[in-house]
Amino acid sequence: MKSLAVWTIKGGVGKTSAAVNLAHAAATDGLRTLLWDLDPQGAASFYLRIPPGMEGAVESITRKRTALADLVLPTEFDNLTILPADFAYRHLDLALDATKKPRKRFAAKLDGLADRHDLVILDCPPSVSLVSETVIKTVDAVLIPVIPSTLSMRTLHQVRVFISEQGRGADVLPFLSMVDLRKKMHNELGLACLADPAFLTVAIPSASVVEKMGITRAPVAATLPSQPAARAFTALWREIRERMEI
Ligand SMILES: Nc1ncnc2c1ncn2[C@@H]1O[C@H](COP(=O)(O)OP(=O)(O)O)[C@@H](O)[C@H]1O
Ligand SMILES: [Mg+2]
Repeated sequence: MKSLAVWTIKGGVGKTSAAVNLAHAAATDGLRTLLWDLDPQGAASFYLRIPPGMEGAVESITRKRTALADLVLPTEFDNLTILPADFAYRHLDLALDATKKPRKRFAAKLDGLADRHDLVILDCPPSVSLVSETVIKTVDAVLIPVIPSTLSMRTLHQVRVFISEQGRGADVLPFLSMVDLRKKMHNELGLACLADPAFLTVAIPSASVVEKMGITRAPVAATLPSQPAARAFTALWREIRERMEI
């Protein structure tokens, strides 16, 4: 099983939209995919029509004997399951901090999912916290959406420093998010980003069909597969699959 966290310290940059659409693309590709909604806001769960709230959500991560796998739910898509968000995740930092070896515990919990899944995608909250630190130290790769703006690029630098300081060797996979090619700055900064070999080459366009996921409550490819944004998420997934050697 491979694990991929979608994370950055910026909010509103397309993490959840990417997590949901990429999880759907991976599932469509035949991988048994689990989307883990770690953000107490529960947007990923909402997009997949899964009501948030699970009894014992935090304990299932921090306590040794409770099985995380018991909380996994099916979605309406083949091969795609979800660990829904719970508002109690807002206390996950404190709970992890009170756990003896939080990273080891988290890693064991993730391992416990390996027999039934080929890929876990974690939709993370936009914070620098013990939760994100623990996730980053555990997963195989961190996917980072970057809107082509000077501030986003500065954030990417901070995030990279943070990840390298954690020092457990997760692959860093930045990609361009919400790109609007009518904007000169998006063109210029987008090209500058793509000169960096770490960047995934597929960019996700700014598109109203992605915004409308709040209404359709489905991945874009499930409702409008021929839209450029749907094709872009599929292409981005294929590139990630290759980079992660899945
Ligand atoms: N490619 C895109 N094109 C247009 N709007 C987008 C795109 N990706 C995300 N959005 C919109 O931007 C907002 C934040 O996106 P979201 O995926 O929730 O980001 P995050 O998880 O980083 O906070 C949402 O309203 C979403 O619909
Ligand atoms: Mg989000």
